[in-house]
Amino acid sequence: MTVSPSLDSDEFAKQPVRTRRRWDPVVKITHWSIVTAILANALVTEEGSGTHIWVGYALAAILALRLLWGSIGPPEARFSAFPLSPGRALGHLRDIRAGKKEVHRSHNPLGALMVYAIWSMLGVIIASGIAMAGPPSTTFLDRAERSDEVTQKVLAERRDHDADEATEGAGGEESEWEEVHETAVNLLYVLIALHIAGVVFETRRSGREILLAMLPGRA
Ligand code: HEM
Ligand code: HEM
Repeated sequence: MTVSPSLDSDEFAKQPVRTRRRWDPVVKITHWSIVTAILANALVTEEGSGTHIWVGYALAAILALRLLWGSIGPPEARFSAFPLSPGRALGHLRDIRAGKKEVHRSHNPLGALMVYAIWSMLGVIIASGIAMAGPPSTTFLDRAERSDEVTQKVLAERRDHDADEATEGAGGEESEWEEVHETAVNLLYVLIALHIAGVVFETRRSGREILLAMLPGRA
């Protein structure tokens, strides 16, 4: 039996758990694209290089698509399916302590807090990144030119000596954005660690269905 995303929530709730379609392709593709973009900018691209900024703008576009999907997507992908509610999150914690296993058709209330926290942190990273990089039309070309290997090496050395110097003398304002960017990136790493710990915990508690639902090929 397949479950149509257009079912209303009552019909949806009556579907047997194992036949539920939990995440549509847009949710899955945006999830793994966001993961890829973060890994690329954290581990592969040179900080502030043309590639770093391109990946950053791609990340912004993917996040925008997911947020749009939160308003027009299928029921389980909508914001209304996983409201930001600290009260419900506490209730979920109580359920965990009591050994109760409720079925959630979208993110559970604790997971929802984490999702909004990750999205907000990405918003801060994107905003501070754009504040440093400037609008795509102008600064992209400058940055792309700077991204050749020699320039990046020089920039990296300068950064080692003096973080402010790395912003190329643009003064305190850019340094502040750099600090905001770096702090938000570090906080994002903490959130990601908690998110993965949460997924592992829920998978052990409620079964592999949670993880499998986010993988390709599972509808
Ligand atoms: C989650 C994805 C991202 C990660 C993990 C990341 C990581 C970093 C890190 C670690 C730095 C060095 C900060 C420092 O100087 O201490 C940096 C710098 C920078 N990032 Fe990102 N970043 C991301 C997204 C973005 C985005 C979305 C943009 C813009 C569209 C951007 C543009 C920049 C710029 C312009 C710099 C400054 C380089 C300089 O001149 O020193 N980043 N990023
Ligand atoms: C850079 C690392 C990661 C980030 C930023 C991230 C972020 C997110 C976000 C924002 C969501 C909500 C999805 C949506 O509604 O659009 C989510 C859900 C999910 N993520 Fe990740 N994720 C990361 C890594 C991972 C990894 C490595 C796994 C697998 C072990 C994973 C498994 C899941 C699962 C299973 C869900 C759905 C949870 C549920 O059923 O409520 N994520 N993640």
